[in-house]
Amino acid sequence: MGLLENKVAVVTGASSGLGRAIAIRYAAEGARVVLADVRDAPIEGGEATQAAIERAGGIAISVPTDVSRWDEVDRLVAIAVERYDRLDVMVNNAAIYTSTNLVETSQTQWEQVVQVNLTGMFNGCKRAVQQMLTQEPADEVRGRIVNISSQHGMVASPGDFPYGVTKGGTVQLTRQVAVDHARDLIVCNAVAPGKIVTGKPGAANDPRALEYSHQRTPWPRLGRPEDVAGAALFLASPLASFVTGINLMVDGGWMAG
Ligand SMILES: NC(=O)c1ccc[n+]([C@@H]2O[C@H](COP(=O)([O-])OP(=O)(O)OC[C@H]3O[C@@H](n4cnc5c(N)ncnc54)[C@H](O)[C@@H]3O)[C@@H](O)[C@H]2O)c1
Repeated sequence: MGLLENKVAVVTGASSGLGRAIAIRYAAEGARVVLADVRDAPIEGGEATQAAIERAGGIAISVPTDVSRWDEVDRLVAIAVERYDRLDVMVNNAAIYTSTNLVETSQTQWEQVVQVNLTGMFNGCKRAVQQMLTQEPADEVRGRIVNISSQHGMVASPGDFPYGVTKGGTVQLTRQVAVDHARDLIVCNAVAPGKIVTGKPGAANDPRALEYSHQRTPWPRLGRPEDVAGAALFLASPLASFVTGINLMVDGGWMAG
């Protein structure tokens, strides 16, 4: 038996990187996974997530969704429930990034990052809770939310202004949802990745940035998407009982040192 046998999970930003790894791991653990993204092809290249899951014998559907739009998130959860009858796990993972400090950040960049990273998470949490409130509890829980934050929401990284601010907001949003809906038996936690190598092109995989992260991380390697998927699996599973409102770091000890 997988840890998520017959559970229904929505994963946003599921086409690439960490969301892709989370979706694939959930499906391998028996979940029926609803993949939500604005694109289909992985940013880092390779097989689309739905194809990868189906090739391994898992179950998934893709629902093109822009998380920054309430109507699209509303439709996403409605389709998940129509297809699979309930929503057990909502993973709010989709996010965008600019390498800009305060004065370099244009009004448009600010609004775009806030709209995807923070309003997108508000949309995902709100719509998930609305659905979970209508469901009977299973194993003492009506539903579980896993939000992907970042260590950059806990410490400021140079030139990470709008992204870092939204990630800080994610951590507080997680606590607030956890406290407000604990009596409803809805669990809400976050995972805070450190430096995870996803293979996407651009600043994140600049060799100097990777070398700095390597030096700064106590564990002798950088993170892999599968490391985050393992933490997201724990928080989605019954193993995480009496655990709500936390921000679980997956950072090779960076924040401990
Ligand atoms: N990779 C890391 O080192 C790292 C570290 C800390 C936190 N994180 C967090 O992990 C999450 C995933 O990061 P990643 O590195 O895999 O990113 P990524 O850019 O590789 O993948 C993000 C996915 O989200 C999708 N997306 C973007 N905007 C969307 C929208 N409006 N609606 C729906 N989907 C949208 C993209 O199309 C893409 O498939 C993000 O929340 C990020 O902040 C990543």
